[in-house]
Amino acid sequence: MSSNTVAIRCRAVQSADLTTDFTDQAAVLIQRLVADGAALGWTAPPSRAEVADLVWEVVDDGPGDASFVVAEVGDEIAGLGFWRRYLRPTYRPHADLEKVAVSPDFQGRGLAHEIVRRLVDSARDAGIEMLTLDFRGDNAAAERLYASHGFREYGRLPGFVAPGEGQRYDRVMQVLDLRPTA
Ligand SMILES: CC(C)(COP(=O)(O)OP(=O)(O)OC[C@H]1O[C@@H](n2cnc3c(N)ncnc32)[C@H](O)[C@@H]1OP(=O)(O)O)[C@@H](O)C(=O)NCCC(=O)NCCS
Repeated sequence: MSSNTVAIRCRAVQSADLTTDFTDQAAVLIQRLVADGAALGWTAPPSRAEVADLVWEVVDDGPGDASFVVAEVGDEIAGLGFWRRYLRPTYRPHADLEKVAVSPDFQGRGLAHEIVRRLVDSARDAGIEMLTLDFRGDNAAAERLYASHGFREYGRLPGFVAPGEGQRYDRVMQVLDLRPTA
């Protein structure tokens, strides 16, 4: 069956899902994107162990303090992303959304939209007041994706992102205010 006809499922990950196969799939997805130059915060593809530690950390934080979402095509992880409550005690009402990533094989089909929609819904359900994120200034796909979910720029640091020798990009910081309007 071609991937065009296989159902895409988007869901929150639980501890019971975290087999080595699962975290390896997440690692392979991220490694491939980073090797292709994706702006996900790494200058070189992270190891499988590093990605596994990250996934475990987020999922262990639990539904009130974090959510890790995957989009699956059949048994394959096609996309992922997560949010985590800030650790700093004075920032605890808020969370940061990170690492939204879709496999090049499945980009352009709305998977990132679905992942972000799920993450925003779960953040709202967890009582998160402000959901922040940041991305590299040349990331047009990220800019368009987050704008359509209501994120608004609150700051920009020119030349802040330094992925390699002589390379400088803006860091764009955005927020989605989830507080109920008075
Ligand atoms: C950004 C990314 C997650 C988008 O995933 P995707 O599943 O292809 O995105 P979707 O199909 O859901 O489309 C999301 C929006 O991005 C837009 N988009 C996707 N690729 C784009 C591109 N190359 N240039 C401009 N806009 C693009 C889409 O048009 C869509 O906007 P629209 O609904 O207004 O048309 C994916 O390109 C990716 O994994 N990139 C590498 C990792 C990364 O940069 N993540 C963001 C870090 S903050």
